[in-house]
Amino acid sequence: MSEPKAKFADKSGRQTPDKQIHGDHSLDLWEPVVISKEDIEAEVERLAGLAHPNNGVRRSMIAHPKADDRSLGLAPGIDVSVDVLLPGERTQPVRQNSNIVNFCIQGAGSMVINAETFEFSHYDVITTPSMAVHEYVNETDDMQVRLRYSNGALLERLNIHLVDEDPPIPGAADADMTEAADEMEEGSESPYGTFELTEDGGWLMPYEKLINPEPVEIKPHHWPWKKVKAELDKLASLGPRYKGRRLYLLYDPVTGRTNGTTPNFFATMCIRPGGIVDRPHRHASAALNYYFAGNGHSVVEGKRYPWKAGDLMLSAPGWAIHNHASDEGPVYELTIQDMPLNINMDSLLWQEELTGPVSLLGSQAGFETNREKAATN
Ligand SMILES: [Fe+2]
Repeated sequence: MSEPKAKFADKSGRQTPDKQIHGDHSLDLWEPVVISKEDIEAEVERLAGLAHPNNGVRRSMIAHPKADDRSLGLAPGIDVSVDVLLPGERTQPVRQNSNIVNFCIQGAGSMVINAETFEFSHYDVITTPSMAVHEYVNETDDMQVRLRYSNGALLERLNIHLVDEDPPIPGAADADMTEAADEMEEGSESPYGTFELTEDGGWLMPYEKLINPEPVEIKPHHWPWKKVKAELDKLASLGPRYKGRRLYLLYDPVTGRTNGTTPNFFATMCIRPGGIVDRPHRHASAALNYYFAGNGHSVVEGKRYPWKAGDLMLSAPGWAIHNHASDEGPVYELTIQDMPLNINMDSLLWQEELTGPVSLLGSQAGFETNREKAATN
């Protein structure tokens, strides 16, 4: 067998990659796709009719036509599944190094992490942190259906997705990690510490610090729809001249400046009164919308896509020009974007108005709305 050999690819004289998001527009987009309420319901019915699976998981990945078996995303870095639990069912404990946003689109139930129970109801959002041993439970008399968004698709593309269906008993994993930290003896740190080496701000960090970054605990969080809706409905009164989005980010402050619901995703809840048309814009983050009231349409890269309550959509492949319009309101929608990931990578190009500047959000100045003016006019 011959040894694998790296190849040299000559790029002298031309730096632009073959797939380039600016300029000649040869971007090979994963085109928008609408998954209809009817198709989702049919799949839910099929899942509900299966014999009880060994691990309790009734799940169907909702994959983009361009996804391959290696990584079944609806966008290149985001996967979505529809998960069903019949009354009385629970999933077996599992953990994985992807982070998860759950959206309960039917019924209710709970998630158990380390003997702690997080109950959720219809249209609630609940997050499942990476490597948390968890179970989903349905102790109600009705079927539970969740949309489950994760960055597993991205991790699979990087060949680093771990899914452990035989995890340590809850609490044990945490105990292991605590022990490791406790075992660090005094004096095991480098005597030189971390220090500035050059005047322009280049530092040196010793190995001991490199392999022991300050842990920040990512906790599961629950956003009950009833409470979110009460706040969201107040935004409906922003006049028709308001140019921003009537939404709230479901924010976990631990994500800091990356504006996340999880370290990878933001989840926003949006209300669109009837007849509101967004300005066309674009961003490097990909957006998935789930509509659960009203109807409307989106225009993405010049093509019109109608949608209605109960439809899921890959609404904005990264950098695609798009806008959304509510034809009959109020429209309620959950949007998932990989914005925190992009801010961490310092790759979040954003253009709020096509005639305006492109900003690198997170490290350059962002945009403003006309909220104050719209409120006084
Ligand atoms: Fe957008």
